[in-house]
Amino acid sequence: MTDRLAAAKNPVAEALIERFKTRTATVGVVGLGYVGLPLVCRFAEAGFKTIGFDIDPAKVEALKKRQSYIGTVESKRVAEALERGFQPTADYALAAQADAIIICVPTPLTKTREPDLQYITRTMEALLPHLRPGQLISLESTSYPGTTEEEIRTRTEAKGLRTGEDFFLVFSPEREDPGNERFSTKNIPKICGGSTPACLEVGVALYSQAIDQVVPVSSTRVAEMAKLLENIHRAVNIGLVNEMKIIADKMGIDIHEVIRAAATKPFGFVPYTPGPGLGGHCIPIDPFYLTWKAREYGVNTRFIELAGEVNRAMPEWVINKVSSALNDTGKAIKGARILVLGLAYKKNVDDVRESPAAEILELLRDRGALLSYSDPHVPSFPKMREHQFDLKSLPLNAQTLLKQDCVVLVTDHDAFDYESIAKHSKLLVDTRGRYPKPAGNIVKA
Ligand SMILES: NC(=O)c1ccc[n+]([C@@H]2O[C@H](COP(=O)([O-])OP(=O)(O)OC[C@H]3O[C@@H](n4cnc5c(N)ncnc54)[C@H](O)[C@@H]3O)[C@@H](O)[C@H]2O)c1
Repeated sequence: MTDRLAAAKNPVAEALIERFKTRTATVGVVGLGYVGLPLVCRFAEAGFKTIGFDIDPAKVEALKKRQSYIGTVESKRVAEALERGFQPTADYALAAQADAIIICVPTPLTKTREPDLQYITRTMEALLPHLRPGQLISLESTSYPGTTEEEIRTRTEAKGLRTGEDFFLVFSPEREDPGNERFSTKNIPKICGGSTPACLEVGVALYSQAIDQVVPVSSTRVAEMAKLLENIHRAVNIGLVNEMKIIADKMGIDIHEVIRAAATKPFGFVPYTPGPGLGGHCIPIDPFYLTWKAREYGVNTRFIELAGEVNRAMPEWVINKVSSALNDTGKAIKGARILVLGLAYKKNVDDVRESPAAEILELLRDRGALLSYSDPHVPSFPKMREHQFDLKSLPLNAQTLLKQDCVVLVTDHDAFDYESIAKHSKLLVDTRGRYPKPAGNIVKA
């Protein structure tokens, strides 16, 4: 009720809400990556005029040519968005035309594992000259509680825009799960927290046009923290099952069988799967946004740090398994031909960010292995900040497999022929529990 009153008393908010409800508004999305591209397509599908901003000219050019550069977004969707008026651009001046501006830029960690907000601050510096009264900004990039108020509100207010009066600000965390066939932008419920009640009402009005369920919360900080809780919950539980895997391995128990058995409990247990280490843009990174901010409040985030420690140690654990498996066949890693299966951080996607496969390759190279990889989703080893390899994906067939001293299954893509892999590998190290039945040539890691 208070929220409704907040906007009803405010003609600027009312007019903006009306533009959203009639879908006559223009929606701008800044950062056209894994999050921003499907989002801008979704708003175009919902009938909005859309503008997509990206500093990478190659992406803007590709989109103009109707090409998607993200495996899970079909080029057809881009073409349809363009037909509906989607305008990809690197020109921030067009931001003045947008009624809503949604920011989806990266939020990585620095080398010293501290939050790196440079993409958000640079976006704001570029946007500021073009902002005007009557606009909504929504930040979707994951960050610690306080980011929206500290990094965005302070800047817009310094320009003279009055939050909740003639300018509106929300945080609405992205929950995109690329490759998920059941859930996409439209049917993943979306949390939204406003800087003021009127901001919240404007934000909910926008997202309700394109997303089936919007979940309002009382502040931007609650929305920021909710996103971190989701990802930390995952990171901590994965850390736990990774630790359980090591214990089970020492005891000669198959952890995957244990998890399958425990998961038959119809309440109070959520199954998580152990693996070769964490990957992707979220789970290895986001928890440390909170640990960093928590220090300001004198709080030690012990669970998060411990889970991070366990999860970060997994690639090394896999290497030890490879080393002792090779040792059992009378070989060393040095000089051994080793094929890594799967470079992407999770199955059926082309995203290699923070992928444990890259670290495993690096550790094997340090020990003198002769390396190759196969990944149908990643044709050549991409440019990565911390890893450099001049490798191309090998076709996965009997000939390739038979040449190897050891094959390490790191990412269990559906496209792999698992029967053929088991049949033609002399030694197969399985980090994903793909092979439940014991076999002489298979080692679980
Ligand atoms: N990928 C996911 O599945 C996922 C899921 C949930 C949340 N998130 C969060 O969403 C945010 C974006 O992640 P992503 O995976 O889409 O990243 P991404 O790297 O795929 O895309 C970011 C895009 O922003 C562009 N960019 C960088 N600086 C810019 C600037 N100043 N102006 C305009 N464009 C700029 C980059 O060129 C890139 O195209 C991050 O905070 C991430 O944590 C990602």
